[in-house]
Amino acid sequence: MSLSKKLIVGNWKMHGSRAANAELLKGLLGADLKGSAPRASVAVCVPFPYLGEVVAALQDSVMAVGSQDVSAHAHGAYTGEVSGAMVREFGAVYAIVGHSERRSYHAESDQLVADKAKAALAQGLVPIVCVGETLAERDAGQTDAVVARQLKAVIDTLGVDLARVVVAYEPVWAIGTGKTASPEQAQAVHAFLRAQLVAAQVSAASVPLLYGGSVKPDNAAELFAQPDIDGGLIGGASLKAADFAAIARAA
Ligand code: PGA
Repeated sequence: MSLSKKLIVGNWKMHGSRAANAELLKGLLGADLKGSAPRASVAVCVPFPYLGEVVAALQDSVMAVGSQDVSAHAHGAYTGEVSGAMVREFGAVYAIVGHSERRSYHAESDQLVADKAKAALAQGLVPIVCVGETLAERDAGQTDAVVARQLKAVIDTLGVDLARVVVAYEPVWAIGTGKTASPEQAQAVHAFLRAQLVAAQVSAASVPLLYGGSVKPDNAAELFAQPDIDGGLIGGASLKAADFAAIARAA
C-alpha cells in the first residue's frame, strides 16, 4: 500500500550560514510549492541554531521545519544536548533520529535512537527514524536483519505510539555517494519494513516510509512511484532550491 500524500524532507546536515540559508529559503519560497501541497507535505531539517529563523521565514509557506537530532532526555545536566521541548518551542514539527551519520560517528545504539524517538514524541515532535544497512552488510545478505534489528528497538520502546512516527530507509552506501538504491531494491526493503510495522501493530500500516540516499530530480519520480515508498529524505539535493522543489513536485 502507498499513502495518498507523500512526505518530502530535506536534511541540510551541517551546511549553511545565515546568508546561505536566506538565499536557499528565498529560492524555496520562490519555487512556490503550494501547487504540490495536495500531493506532498514538505519539510526541511536544519541545524539547531537556525531553527527559529527558518521557522519564521517559512511561516506563511506550506513547508514545515525539523531538527536533525534530539536528546533522549527531557532536561537536565546534559551539556551540549538539545531537548525536544526546545526544538518544539522554536516551532519545529519533526526531528530526525538515528541518522547513519549519528549512528556511526557518535556511536548511537539502536536503543538510544529508540529513546530519542520516544523523547521526541513526548515533546510533541514527529520523529523521523532512520534505518539502513552498510554495503558490507548488504553484500553479506544481512539487509533485512539489520533494518529489522534497528526497527525492533523502536517498536519495543514506543508501544502504541509506533503509529505516530515516520521511518526513513537510508542505505548507508547510497548516502552522499551518488549511488541510489534502484527503485526495486528500495521497494523490497520498504515492503519488508511495512510488514514489520504491521506485524507489530496494525495501526502502524500508515506510518510513512521515506527513502533516502542520493535522491535527485531525475530519479525521484521512479522511486516515489513504488508502492511502499511514501516520500524521501533528501540530503545534498535539498541544498539547491531548484532541485529540492523538483523532487517535491515529482511526488
Ligand atoms: P543524500 O543524503 O541525499 O545526500 O544522499 C541523504 C541523507 O543523508 O539523509
